[in-house]
Amino acid sequence: MPAHTFHPSGPLGGTLQVPGDKSISHRAIMFGALAVGETRVSGLLEGEDVMATAGAMRAMGAQIEKTGAEWRIHGVGIGSLLEPKAALDMGNSGTSTRLLMGLTASHAITATFIGDASLSRRPMGRVIEPLSQMGAQIEASSGGTLPLLQRGAATPVPITYRLPVASAQVKSAVLLAGLNTPGITTVIEPVPTRDHTERMLAGFGARLEVTQEAGTRIIRIHGEAELRPQHVIVPGDPSSAAFFIVAALLVPGSDLVIENVGINPTRAGLIAVLQAMGGDITLLDRREVGGEPVADLRVRHSALTGIAIDPAVAPAMIDEFPVLFVAAALAQGTTTTTGLDELRVKESDRLATMAAALTLAGARVEEHEDGLTIHGTGGDPLPGTPPGAEVATRLDHRIAMSMAIAGLVSRNGVQIDDTAPIATSFPTFLALLAEATR
Ligand code: S3P
Repeated sequence: MPAHTFHPSGPLGGTLQVPGDKSISHRAIMFGALAVGETRVSGLLEGEDVMATAGAMRAMGAQIEKTGAEWRIHGVGIGSLLEPKAALDMGNSGTSTRLLMGLTASHAITATFIGDASLSRRPMGRVIEPLSQMGAQIEASSGGTLPLLQRGAATPVPITYRLPVASAQVKSAVLLAGLNTPGITTVIEPVPTRDHTERMLAGFGARLEVTQEAGTRIIRIHGEAELRPQHVIVPGDPSSAAFFIVAALLVPGSDLVIENVGINPTRAGLIAVLQAMGGDITLLDRREVGGEPVADLRVRHSALTGIAIDPAVAPAMIDEFPVLFVAAALAQGTTTTTGLDELRVKESDRLATMAAALTLAGARVEEHEDGLTIHGTGGDPLPGTPPGAEVATRLDHRIAMSMAIAGLVSRNGVQIDDTAPIATSFPTFLALLAEATR
C-alpha cells in the first residue's frame, strides 16, 4: 500500500496526452478476439483492467500480443470460445466482468469469475437477471456477487430487455450475449449511456440497428454474427483527462492543452458542467478518429461558481463525479448533486468515500442518500489532511486521483493511503502530473 502526499503545486502548462480510453480498449480486445483474422489496435490503454480482459480472452483461445506500439489480436470467431482452464481473474474491473459474462453466456462453456475485494462487493445481479433469461445458469456468492460460476447456454434464446438501471455494462452484456444467439436480441434503453459497444460492433461488421422512440433508445443485434477484423484507433480517455482538466481550472496561472481526448456526447458531461460553472475549456480541432469524436482541449485557470447539477447529465459523466466534487470544493458558493445512487456501487461507495476524503482535507461537504452538497472555498486552497491522517481510497483509482488533485490546491498537502489502484486505469498518472506541474 504505497501512501503518498500530494503537495501544493505551481501552474499546469504545456501539452500532454492521456492514455487510451478504458471502455473502448476493453471492447477492442473483446471484439478483436471474436473476429477471425488479425485485428490491430493503436493507442490501447495498458492499465490493469484492460489487461484483465486480455488475459481472459487469451484463456479462451485468442492470441493477443504487443508488437512495437501496436497490439495484434488473432480472434477465434464467435461461437468458438474455448472453456477457460482456470478461474478468470477480473481484478478490480467491473467492465471486464460484466461484459465477459455477457460474451460467454451464449457459449456452451463454464467459467468462474473472481476479483479483488472491491469487485467482490459489487452487484452482478443486474447482469445475472437478463443472462439467465437468455439461458445461462449462474451460481453467484450471496448478494449476487463474485466469485461466481456461469454455465453458458448451449441453445441461447434472444430476449427483449428493458434496462432497469442506466448502465452501459448491462446493455453491453446483453448485446454481447446476443452475438452468439440466433435471432434478434433487443435492448431498450430509457436513459442513454455510453455507446461505444454499438459504435464498435457496427465497425466490426455486426448487424445492429439503433432507433429512437419517444426519447427511448432501442438497440437490436442480429445474432450468430460474424465480425471482420479491424484496425482500431483508441482515442484518449476523457475520464483520465478529467483529472487534468480540473487541476488546470483550479491551480492559478494554469494554461494546459490536452490532446486527442474523446468527446463522445455520452461521455462529455463533465466538460459542459465545468463550463457552466465558469470553467475556461476550449475544444480545438474537433475531428473523428476511429468512429469516435475527438478534440484537443485547452484549459485555463478559472474562478468557478457552484451550481445545481441536473441529474439527467449523470450518465454522461458517471465516472467524473469524484473529481467534480473536488472542483466544487474550490468553487464560489454551493454545488448540489442528486440522482447519483449508482455512485454507491462503483469501485467504492463514491459518495461516502469522497464525502469522508474531502471532509478530512478540510472541505465542507454534506452527504445525502443520492448525492453530495458541497460548499466551496471561493478559490482559497483547502487546508489539507491533518498531520498523520490519510485519505482512505478503498481500492478505488478515481478516489486516489481526485484527492491527488485536491492536494495540488491545498495548503498543507493531501496524504492518501494507497496509490496502487491508479494503475487499473491510468498507470502514467503520477509521471504526467509531475510533467504538467514542472
Ligand atoms: C463502463 C460503464 C460505466 C462506467 C464504467 C465503464 C463501460 O458503468 O462507470 O467505468 O465501459 O461500459 P455502468 O455500466 O455500471 O454505468
